[in-house]
Amino acid sequence: MLYSKKKLNSLLCLDDFSVAARRYLPGFMYAYVSGGVEMNTSLAHNRAIFDELGFVPRIMRDVSKVDTSTTLWGKNYAAPFGIAPMGISAISAYRGDEVLARAAQQADIPMIMSGSSLIRMEDIAPIGPNIWFQAYLPGTQEQIDALVARAATAGFEKLVITVDTPVAANRENNVRAGFSTPLKPTPRLVADCILHPRWTFGTLLKTVTRHGMPHFENNYATRGTPIISRNVLRDFSDRSHLNWEHLRRIRANWHGKLILKGILNTEDARQAVAEGVDGIIVSNHGGRQLDGSIAPLLALPDIARACPNVPIMMDSGIRRGTDAMKALGLGACFVFIGRPFGFAAAIGGEPGVRRAIDLFSTEVVRDSAMLGLTRAADMGPEYLMTRTPASHFERFLNGQA
Ligand code: FNR
Repeated sequence: MLYSKKKLNSLLCLDDFSVAARRYLPGFMYAYVSGGVEMNTSLAHNRAIFDELGFVPRIMRDVSKVDTSTTLWGKNYAAPFGIAPMGISAISAYRGDEVLARAAQQADIPMIMSGSSLIRMEDIAPIGPNIWFQAYLPGTQEQIDALVARAATAGFEKLVITVDTPVAANRENNVRAGFSTPLKPTPRLVADCILHPRWTFGTLLKTVTRHGMPHFENNYATRGTPIISRNVLRDFSDRSHLNWEHLRRIRANWHGKLILKGILNTEDARQAVAEGVDGIIVSNHGGRQLDGSIAPLLALPDIARACPNVPIMMDSGIRRGTDAMKALGLGACFVFIGRPFGFAAAIGGEPGVRRAIDLFSTEVVRDSAMLGLTRAADMGPEYLMTRTPASHFERFLNGQA
């Protein structure tokens, strides 16, 4: 049912997983993972922005050995990238959170488990310390306290709070593709499933027969609603009143590392650090929240400069080792990647995710060497240039050079 090793080996870069998943998954499932929001403006810009930077490599340096390991809070990871949190991964891929977590732990990179997941956090945390937990904050203080306490008891050491979802996003692309929350088994959905038997039998029916109807397991301290429940929307729409006061209380209660995900504004980043967070993920949620929000790469240099004492990480649109190197050059010490790993889990399970990790790791090694770096972590702005800096050629053409 899943892609064989041979077929996985025919995939050569992260974007190949998306192409393969488009055939493998029903249209509504593919649309849910791949889509952005409204006009997909941010989704497109997240990619386009990388083209505005070029590399200025150094030569004749001995790069026969390249070290991609990166240290975050004293812990060494094998490479400067990890897997971003993705909700309902266990319905796009069979045991999605589990296969993502196992592959990441084995490759010694971090994987962030989404709070909107369908497998209990207690079943994923034991896979290893590389698994971080991402929470969407529930509506009341008691519920927040209880969820934070649950994550600590489960054994997580890193808690990521996603802060760019005060209200539900306008995912009209999902609605057009027939994907809704709650999931409604319409005739169109059923037809889509029949046309994609590998996913229908290998993921959907296998999940339901072996593990029962999937529920949102980790939005609260207690089990949430099933994915086909009418209450799902209500459960997701009670976050609009959240403010810094809630963060203060979490900081006081959570003794592990606390990371805020979804910051694009430098003042917010400064305040987050002043409130005691240990790290920031600069992100526009992969272009899935506020359409038109700037590409995180644009916000990165200012935030990194304003917050020199905590790790600044970034996600949204990273598909190539070269993208990661550009982000590192602009002040990120780490990047996260979402969709391609979701697709890798869907079509190939744990070996699929391992293949995607290997491909990306190899790109980071190769790109570092090409840049003249023996350590990826040494990447800096001196290796970057804007593609055509304003007035760059004029200096020469006007005889001023
Ligand atoms: C997400 N993202 C996300 N973020 C988060 O904090 N909690 C979540 O539950 C989810 N769920 C989710 C589901 C799916 C299917 C996708 C694609 C994304 C956003 C994610 O963590 C990350 O910010 C983006 O995916 C990064 O962009 P790229 O790499 O997908 O372009």
